[in-house]
Amino acid sequence: MLKNKKILLGITGGIAAYKAVDLAGKLTKMGAEVKTIMTAHACEFVSPITFKSITHQPVITKMFDAEADIEHISLADWADIIVIAPATANIIGKTAYGIADDLLSTTIMAATVPVLFVPAMNVHMYENPIVQENITKLSALGYFFMEPEFGKLACGYDGKGRYPENEEIIFHIATYLKYSKDLSGKNVLITAGASREEIDPMRFITNYSTGKMGLALARAAHIRGAHVKFIHSFISEKIPEYMDSIKTVSAEEMYNSVIQDYKDSDITFMTAAVADFTPANPSKQKIKKSNDLNLELKRTKDILMELGERKTKDQILVGFAAESENIKENALQKIRKKKLNFICANNLNVAGKNDTEILVLGEGIEIKLIGNKFSVAHQIIDIILKSTDKIDKKK
Ligand code: CTP
Repeated sequence: MLKNKKILLGITGGIAAYKAVDLAGKLTKMGAEVKTIMTAHACEFVSPITFKSITHQPVITKMFDAEADIEHISLADWADIIVIAPATANIIGKTAYGIADDLLSTTIMAATVPVLFVPAMNVHMYENPIVQENITKLSALGYFFMEPEFGKLACGYDGKGRYPENEEIIFHIATYLKYSKDLSGKNVLITAGASREEIDPMRFITNYSTGKMGLALARAAHIRGAHVKFIHSFISEKIPEYMDSIKTVSAEEMYNSVIQDYKDSDITFMTAAVADFTPANPSKQKIKKSNDLNLELKRTKDILMELGERKTKDQILVGFAAESENIKENALQKIRKKKLNFICANNLNVAGKNDTEILVLGEGIEIKLIGNKFSVAHQIIDIILKSTDKIDKKK
């Protein structure tokens, strides 16, 4: 994802500066070239030698550093992306007002590549209308921002201001190296995970779905600026805090949630592995042992089929199909039966893995995508945006 990418890391003076050491390490391990600029205050928290040892690349701390042998403007030209993590209220404010009074602020001002800020600070500082106005102003100018997380802050307060997970920062970097916020203003509804159908208070019917593909799509769409509603059952990964998510257990619960949000959705991905059957008479008490047990099952509602029926001409509906044989033929049948715009079909044997192989089918579209689920998620979105563009032009 980041192999041979040139990442300029800007470290400013917040307590979270030490967490950026791990970020620099992870980026380097992924094959990126990482150069670091540290402000004077950042050097109070972490030694430049730490970043130098972990990235094996120069760490520059001064504007006119004869030893570093690097002109400040050339760093802006060298980078594919600039990432300020952690970003203080000070660097955000300076950038918003065009102040270039040290190496980092000068480099940001000279940059023509994407710049991602990862704010981390005291909750009251973050919520200060001046900081918020600066973020709004910079976002409108095309600078990218991550939202800090809620939680216990180093200053002792509870609130929004925590440095986010480095894994999430990496997903943002990988996205903004290639994409802008091209889904801004779009509502995207995504379902994921394995539903659970209760037999008795102890037992349930479920399936092997991990929800990884749905989460990858939700993450990719969110980072590209969409408002994502993530309606999920049981999934094997942590859901990022920034995600607007709803947890459902059974197919029935998921049906109720999805139907409620569907009318506002521009693009809907039904990635969830919804149970086709549920016990007809779930027992309120634990079922005791006996020689044989026959469970009577009844059909659940087919959510995707219902969405197909309700679809308006401006909505895009994407189904998923996990097949064990005749992948293309079965998937094409589902497109017609459920009135879909697209179907993403995959072989059951990729379930649960981080890499996938997906066949995207739609009107005049047959594209095979192979790779890690996050990259494939972006490519699925690309295919949809490209074809929607064609649909819009036809009108
Ligand atoms: N799906 C749904 N509601 C269900 C079952 C499935 O919305 N009760 C959706 C899934 O989220 C997926 C698509 O339907 O997007 C395909 O599901 P799948 O189970 O593979 O196909 P079916 O149409 O149920 O047919 P079959 O099980 O016979 O393959």
